[in-house]
Amino acid sequence: MLKIVGISFFLGLMYLLFVFNREDNEREYSLQLEHEQLVVCYESNTDQRRPLYATGTLSETTTDESSTTQRNHQQQRQHVQQQQLLFEGTEPMIYFVTPTYPRREQIAEITRLGQTLMHVPRLHWIVADDTSSCSATLNSHIRKFGIPYTQLASPMPEMYRGRKNAPRGVANRRAALHWIRQNGIKTGVLYFGDDDNTFDLKLFSEIRYTKKVSMFPVGLIGEYGISSPIVLNGRVEGFFDSWPAKRKWPVDMAGFAVSLEYMALSPNATMPFKAGYEEDEFLKSIGLKLEDIEPKARNCTEILVWHTQTKGSKSPTVRISIDREKLNKLNLGALFSRLESMGVNHISESEGTTAQAIVNGSVKPLTFWFS
Ligand code: UGA
Ligand code: MN
Repeated sequence: MLKIVGISFFLGLMYLLFVFNREDNEREYSLQLEHEQLVVCYESNTDQRRPLYATGTLSETTTDESSTTQRNHQQQRQHVQQQQLLFEGTEPMIYFVTPTYPRREQIAEITRLGQTLMHVPRLHWIVADDTSSCSATLNSHIRKFGIPYTQLASPMPEMYRGRKNAPRGVANRRAALHWIRQNGIKTGVLYFGDDDNTFDLKLFSEIRYTKKVSMFPVGLIGEYGISSPIVLNGRVEGFFDSWPAKRKWPVDMAGFAVSLEYMALSPNATMPFKAGYEEDEFLKSIGLKLEDIEPKARNCTEILVWHTQTKGSKSPTVRISIDREKLNKLNLGALFSRLESMGVNHISESEGTTAQAIVNGSVKPLTFWFS
């Protein structure tokens, strides 16, 4: 008897846990929140990228150079001019929206992504940081690419933070949508590119002339290793994704691009704070119809974007007890200041892994050079 009561109590508890969890994950929240924050931190609308592969200053040909070298210089100059035209051209702009947040891998992710985007002409990078204040460290790393950009600060509302299934990157993407609307931008194309994904350069020429919404496969998603539209006779007829979850548009954030002209027809377009359903509800909010979808990447047979994920780990404490003045005489002073500003690690005088030097194959204290 006691056993049966025990089992039913256990089953009841499991049911309650299930219901509670489901409600927690699926509850809808109002789309317009009070106290949503958006700060425009830094902005640049000029393209200051050096034309690719050009050394910058082309030295004038000297008389003793061979004619082959002279020809190479001429070709190089022509190439530079072509590249400049490309960057200043009139092609539709790509508004590449990257939600990001402070953690020790942030600058590494931004560096890799920025160096991909440096190759893409006519692109405006909206970097929306999940913070309430503007990060100067982040800005110093974005600015150096020379890509036209806007850095926003837009924190996840407190009510979601700390939740098991928090809607990641939503407050910041909403802020980017708001910025686009506020600036009355109605031409070009919008793409949500997370900071940890991997983008093939071909993706950008594929999405640039999106009429309404274009879609394409995303590699490394879920149990199938891929999320993709299903295409028959050149038309999107359905979706291939291992997590249907009753979604009308079961696609990943990286698997579609939207024409801003088309988006402007839906002034209430938004993304909900609803983990797992951001893409679906966003696409519903722009009134998407199946026949509006253009399959890209050779009718969805190529993978031009990968849902790579970076393994995160805790920032270690390094125990360094020699005084700062001495540390600054070594490169280590400046090096650690930089690392600390990025949150990669931090120094403590009394805790953490003791810092040691290796000199000629033997371990020495850092005071080695000062004793
Ligand atoms: C997957 C999807 O690819 C995301 O587009 C989607 O937002 C997310 O799930 C979700 O539904 O929550 P996943 O790789 O699992 O993404 O998540 P992350 O890469 O950790 O986060 C997605 C984006 O949001 C990243 O660009 C990340 O920098 C940003 N993020 C993450 C924040 O802005 N704040 C956070 O607290 C966490
Ligand atoms: Mn990710």
